[in-house]
Order: sequence, then structure tokens, then C-alpha cells
Amino acid sequence: MPMKYVITILATLAVVLLGALLFPYTGLYNVAASEGHTGIARWYLETLSEHSIKARADNIAAPTDLADSSRVARGAVAYAQMCRTCHGAPGQERSVTGQGMTPLPPSLSEEAAEWRPEEIYWIVEHGIKMAGMPAYGPTHSEEELWEIVAFVEQLPAMTDAQYTRLTVPADPAPADSTAPPLADDGHDHVH
Ligand code: HEC
Repeated sequence: MPMKYVITILATLAVVLLGALLFPYTGLYNVAASEGHTGIARWYLETLSEHSIKARADNIAAPTDLADSSRVARGAVAYAQMCRTCHGAPGQERSVTGQGMTPLPPSLSEEAAEWRPEEIYWIVEHGIKMAGMPAYGPTHSEEELWEIVAFVEQLPAMTDAQYTRLTVPADPAPADSTAPPLADDGHDHVH
């Protein structure tokens, strides 16, 4: 390639790079959450997150008894306390806080099936910066995180009634109660 072209290409790249570095100072970009993302910003964020998460979840291994019913029940209580406000739950809309976010926190009843349990674990442990998804690793034990994952895994198939049964404490059970184990656990582990 003649030297002339090489210089033109390098000069063009330098101008583009300088423009990118100066752009933040112009005030042209609208950071309003109320405006939604532009198509390109949305694509960039989604593609970046998806590949970042999948690459990092590779060396995580879920417990073999992940779906253990008492683990799911403890995860349900944690979900109701920490996640529902943003992501909503079966039969429950996101809170006003969740509704006002950009990107809108997805309904996990719809999205959980798109991820492997190990990927959900990574997301909950580390969060997603630039998206507003918090990290729960700094404040929760591994088992507590798996409880949340175990519950999220059940969401796609969960009915409104099942969710209510898991998260709303039942009336005190009589000593000889024959209530199903899930309902029992949901009650026992409300802190
Ligand atoms: C402050 C609001 C907020 C809270 C609280 C929150 N999340 Fe999120 N979550 C988000 C946002 C925003 C995203 C990213 C959405 C995007 O990139 O499209 C996200 C993404 C996710 C994803 C990836 C979903 C997907 O398909 O993109 C999972 C899984 C998830 N959160 C699980 C949880 C769990 C479990 C909890 C509770 C322990 C929780 N989140 C609490 C806001 C929140």
C-alpha cells in the first residue's frame, strides 16, 4: 500500500478517536433514563453483557440438588425482599422504581430460561454495571446466592398462586399439620 494511503488512514483514525474523546464534553448525549436507549447503545450494552457473562460463568458449577424444595423456598423469600421491586414477580408488577429504570429490568419469568443456572449465579453475585443490576456477592454467602438462583430457575413455570404461597407467610400451622413442605418452609424461614 502506498505511504500516502497509510497516512490518510492513520489521520482519519486519529480524528475519529479525538472526536470520541471530546464527545462527552459536548453535552449532546442524553443520559435521561426516561428517554430509553438509542438502538446502538442498547445493542452495545446487551452484546457486551451477554458475552461478558457467558465467558465468566464457565468455571462455576451449580449444586446437583439445586432444585431442593427448602432451598427454593428460602430463595423465594429473598427474591420477594430484594429482586421483586425491580423485576416484578408472578402476578406482581415491578415497583415504581423498577418501572422507571433504563434498561427496564426484564421479567425473569420470561428471561430466566435464557440463562444457565451458573450464569444467573454470576449475574446475581457480580451484578451488571451500566445496567443498574446490583451485585449481591459482597453481602451474601454462596449458599444464599444459590438459594436465589434455585428460586429464579422455577420462575418460568410458576403460577401467581404458587408465588404467593411461597412468599406470604401462612397462618401458624397446627402441630399435626399436613401442609406441603414448600408452604411449611416458606413460613419457617421468614426472618
Ligand atoms: C435496582 C433494580 C434491580 C434489582 C434490585 C435487581 N435487579 Fe436484576 N437486573 C436489573 C437490570 C436493570 C438488569 C439488566 C437488564 C438489561 O440489561 O436489559 C438486570 C438483569 C438481571 C438478570 C439478567 C436478565 C436478562 O435476561 O438480561 C438476572 C438473571 C437478574 N437481573 C436477576 C436478579 C435477581 C435474582 C435479583 C435479586 C437478588 C435482582 N436481579 C435484583 C435490575 C435489578
